[in-house]
Amino acid sequence: MLSKTIQETINEQINHELYSAYTYLSMSAYFESLNLRGFAHWMRAQSREEVAHAMKFFDFLHDRGGRVVLPAIDEPPAEFESPLEVFQQALGHERKVTGLIYKIYDLAVKEKDYATQALLNWFVAEQVEEEKSTGEIVEHLKQSGNDPTGLLFLDKQLGERKSED
Ligand code: FEO
Repeated sequence: MLSKTIQETINEQINHELYSAYTYLSMSAYFESLNLRGFAHWMRAQSREEVAHAMKFFDFLHDRGGRVVLPAIDEPPAEFESPLEVFQQALGHERKVTGLIYKIYDLAVKEKDYATQALLNWFVAEQVEEEKSTGEIVEHLKQSGNDPTGLLFLDKQLGERKSED
């Protein structure tokens, strides 16, 4: 049985995931404005992944007889100082999301809601991947500094990211 608290928390998480999607799409638009198409492609793929995360929670609530409610999505940041700042913000955001997933997990453990814990196990592993991939790009950007060749090389690499869909 899905508790009211878990239902509310998952509804909030759907909103957080969609905000993530919106944020990464905004970051993709920023990269497009710099003609960094590989970075833009990477962020666009990331945005689609976030929609998929939201839909996992969306479907889960329905599977358990819950009710999905979709409030407004906050406006994401639009302007950034540099590609490095974008990825630092993205990493900070992913760490925040990891914290949110852990909070739902704590709640599910407290309520002995094993089905929600099973769903969240997937998200715990996914967050490890998300932080790793974003953190690696932060490090690469720090290493390349303001060197345009390094930036273009990274742009080419990120442009090769496969889409999940
Ligand atoms: Fe849905 Fe990037 O966490």
